[in-house]
Amino acid sequence: MTISVTPTKGACGAFIDGLDLRQPLSPDTVDAIRQAWLQHHVVVFRDQQIDDDDLERFSRYFGDFAGDPYIAPMAGRENVIELRRAADETTPIFADAWHTDWSFGATPPAATVLHGITIPPHGGNTDFINQHEVLAQMPAELRQRLQGKMARHSARLAYAPDGMYGQQDKDRGRGFTILTDESAYNEQLHPLIRQHPETGEEAIFGCFGYIVGIADVSAEEEQQLLTDLYQWQTREEFQYHHQWQPGMLVMWDNRSVLHKANGGYEGYERVLHRTVIA
Ligand code: SIN
Repeated sequence: MTISVTPTKGACGAFIDGLDLRQPLSPDTVDAIRQAWLQHHVVVFRDQQIDDDDLERFSRYFGDFAGDPYIAPMAGRENVIELRRAADETTPIFADAWHTDWSFGATPPAATVLHGITIPPHGGNTDFINQHEVLAQMPAELRQRLQGKMARHSARLAYAPDGMYGQQDKDRGRGFTILTDESAYNEQLHPLIRQHPETGEEAIFGCFGYIVGIADVSAEEEQQLLTDLYQWQTREEFQYHHQWQPGMLVMWDNRSVLHKANGGYEGYERVLHRTVIA
């Protein structure tokens, strides 16, 4: 099957057309998707009226399921979570801060796949930032300060019992179950500048939030570095703003991009199904 790959107008991302993801894919097609995904870091399939079996089958072409440490799967599915937000929900928007999925783990996931089911008429974009471009265009002085440094990653600000999704959040009632846990206080080191394991291209890995500090530097230097890095790596020119339509399926490369959810759809329901690939 021939696919067409059309880059978005943003700093990463491409639309892949010509496929019906309700059908099994040939090895050549999977390979073509993988190449486009590695090149563009975010791939978007429009108008896919798939069910969760199709979503799981598509995901498994790209690796094993990674499980989800702090979000309960939806009823009847081990590997799919439902990101549901009711029209009248008052909790903070889930994932409305730049991050790359579970960078606090020892082996963070390669890909995340999100399928849009109920999409509000406005708002609710998912934004991405190309961390290869962030590094390629980084001022030499900042790069030199980051070179060789190890970042301390942790889930504690979000998923510890006293984190953002702790009891206060549970009391307000969310459309899916977040599992806070003491394990979120753990820390994991990753290099701030990393080579992509498949392409060898260097990128910045992670940002403040799941990054809670930098190893072996003074508190003053740590604070300054985290601030300077965050300001540079979130600049508008490195971003792609993804606008959802019902039926869109998006797969991004957690080793290459940061992403964040957005609000702006008060009074409307939003539902997406998600898998994460090891
Ligand atoms: C996520 O980070 O997986 C959620 C993205 C979104 O809801 O737009």
